[in-house]
Amino acid sequence: MSKVLKLGIIGCGRVAFHHAEMLKGIDEIKLVACCDLVEDKAKSLAEKTETKAYTNYHQMLDKEGLDMVTLATPTGAHYTHTKDILNYRPIHVLLEKPMVLRIAHGLELNTLAYKKGVSIFPVYQNRFNTAVQRVKSALVAGELGDVVLGTVRVRWCRPQRYYDLAPWRGTFSMDGGAHVNQGIHYIDILRYLAGEIEEVHSLFAQLGAKLEAEDTGVSIVKFKNGGLGQIEITMAARPDDFEASVSIVGSRGLAVLGGICTNKLETFSPSPADQTRCSEEVPMAYGLSHRRVYEMLAKAIVHGGNAPVEFDDGLNTIRLLHALYRSNEEHRWVRLDEEVESKRLGESNKQLLAQYLIR
Ligand SMILES: NC(=O)c1ccc[n+]([C@@H]2O[C@H](COP(=O)([O-])OP(=O)(O)OC[C@H]3O[C@@H](n4cnc5c(N)ncnc54)[C@H](O)[C@@H]3O)[C@@H](O)[C@H]2O)c1
Repeated sequence: MSKVLKLGIIGCGRVAFHHAEMLKGIDEIKLVACCDLVEDKAKSLAEKTETKAYTNYHQMLDKEGLDMVTLATPTGAHYTHTKDILNYRPIHVLLEKPMVLRIAHGLELNTLAYKKGVSIFPVYQNRFNTAVQRVKSALVAGELGDVVLGTVRVRWCRPQRYYDLAPWRGTFSMDGGAHVNQGIHYIDILRYLAGEIEEVHSLFAQLGAKLEAEDTGVSIVKFKNGGLGQIEITMAARPDDFEASVSIVGSRGLAVLGGICTNKLETFSPSPADQTRCSEEVPMAYGLSHRRVYEMLAKAIVHGGNAPVEFDDGLNTIRLLHALYRSNEEHRWVRLDEEVESKRLGESNKQLLAQYLIR
């Protein structure tokens, strides 16, 4: 393996441009090519990054000798695209969130990657925000004591025009609703900080726009460590985004993470001075921590360090999403160890998926 990883980006939409920005200045990774089914989009990112443009990722894989690709295609195509890449020309894959929409698909991809001798790395960049890391270290060191309550509260505005941007948005087969697309970051942080969840009870609704899946939901959760929690997410707040917070009430103190992507430590009773010291200004809700993900990835692949987030850990957040969906579908408590999948999230829609297959 060369010391500088050769990277390609597949899917040159909204988040791919952010990836390109975050890669600047990382010496161990060189972006060499960009691919999108839409030629103008591939060209636009390629021009900006002075790389080559492709409209067919097989051709990019054939010609560029890549070590890794970042997959930033629509969520519901992640499974199909990753499987195809691993079978066609196995290389490492950095998989944007949500990594997959079915638990079974995640297990299958991980087994396939292992057989092919490569890895799939999930993106949960907000875990690496300074504020989140400070709360994590406080929980590990006992500064906050035991988890009493863990709460997610997202009050955002996604009007109809947002769902109308692309045919995959808000569908069960390709995207999921507020919990899966937007809420996943905060739900993942809740798990990351407060620990694994034993059981959940959810109620979902569509209250602000017409989409297939939910734009609003409330859930109560019980952590394995005995603590209790609440997840309240809506995209039907108007006229603006108001709040995205994760708070932990511990037996010895309180931590509240806020800002637009848990980039601010708003309350931290063990050491209030850290509230300012550990808060970061970010220009947009994607935050700045994709850069940290790439830095950790480079170390993991080139020098043999820890993956930013292990695949199984990332998949546990998908398991939690399925438990929340299933609870809403069946109006009952769902235990995580039932390992049940939602009846709808990640359902097959060959017609919609066909729009995203290489030609
Ligand atoms: N980590 C984060 O904070 C974050 C933020 C935004 C989006 N995302 C995730 O990134 C993914 C993409 O989101 P987006 O907002 O950029 O979507 P988007 O619709 O703007 O871009 C997706 C792009 O993929 C292209 N594409 C589809 N199939 C392709 C194929 N076979 N080959 C090459 N290109 C293909 C489309 O033409 C489109 O340009 C989603 O999974 C989304 O959830 C993550």
